[in-house]
Amino acid sequence: MRLMMLGPPGAGKGTIAKKLIDKYAVPQLSTGDLLRAAVKEGTTLGLEAKKFMDAGELVPDKVVIGLIKERLAQRDCQKGFILDGFPRTLPQAEALAKITTLQAVINLDVSDEEVIVRLSGRRTCAKCGAIYHVRNIPPRTPGKCDKDGADLFQRDDDKEEAIRNRLNVYRRQTMPLIDHYRAAGILHDVDGAAGVDSVTAASVKIIETIK
Ligand code: AP5
Repeated sequence: MRLMMLGPPGAGKGTIAKKLIDKYAVPQLSTGDLLRAAVKEGTTLGLEAKKFMDAGELVPDKVVIGLIKERLAQRDCQKGFILDGFPRTLPQAEALAKITTLQAVINLDVSDEEVIVRLSGRRTCAKCGAIYHVRNIPPRTPGKCDKDGADLFQRDDDKEEAIRNRLNVYRRQTMPLIDHYRAAGILHDVDGAAGVDSVTAASVKIIETIK
């Protein structure tokens, strides 16, 4: 399976990708997670990327293309993968097409109002990356991960000003990918505003047509 999750920030790309990797046993390739790991490690790339990420801007194409190229070359990607947050510009899509061919793109459609509610309430596990929402998907114990008990944190780019900029950046730089992949005949629209179980079921239905 060679799948990509597309959608605005907070659409649920990571949440649904995590449900799908459990079912299909393929890796989730999230450029956001790869970049956050580089920031945490304090690498040169991470320090450079942090400035863009905190402001809600995209990290330069050359950097993320290099990261994903390296990740896709790893052995666990041979049986398939779910891309989450890449590509998000036309040059990134063109670079990806030179490495591999996507079978399907799932486009999660969610309103700006819902994005703001979701991102301002998102909490992430510092240890395993599990994603919660203080109201929609709360952990059993506030502030602690259900899976490993580690602390939950709020992302630096989930502040209102950065969220608004991320939405503008999405409209300007990422939305053109909707037409790009629709023209290629591989785009599938899914109502991302529905509950997690419904969105997962709709995504599974699409995957069953490409497997
Ligand atoms: P990235 O980490 O990719 O952020 P994003 O695209 O803005 O997406 P998010 O992770 O914020 O949201 P999501 O759609 O995964 O939603 P989630 O499942 O968490 O990128 C961060 C930054 O890194 C970028 O701004 C950029 O600087 C850089 N970057 C990354 N990739 C790049 C690239 N390719 N090129 C250049 N720069 C790049 O869900 C959100 C919340 O909603 C959670 O609380 C969740 O519990 C809840 N939720 C999810 N689904 C549902 C549902 N169905 N119903 C109710 N609540 C739900």
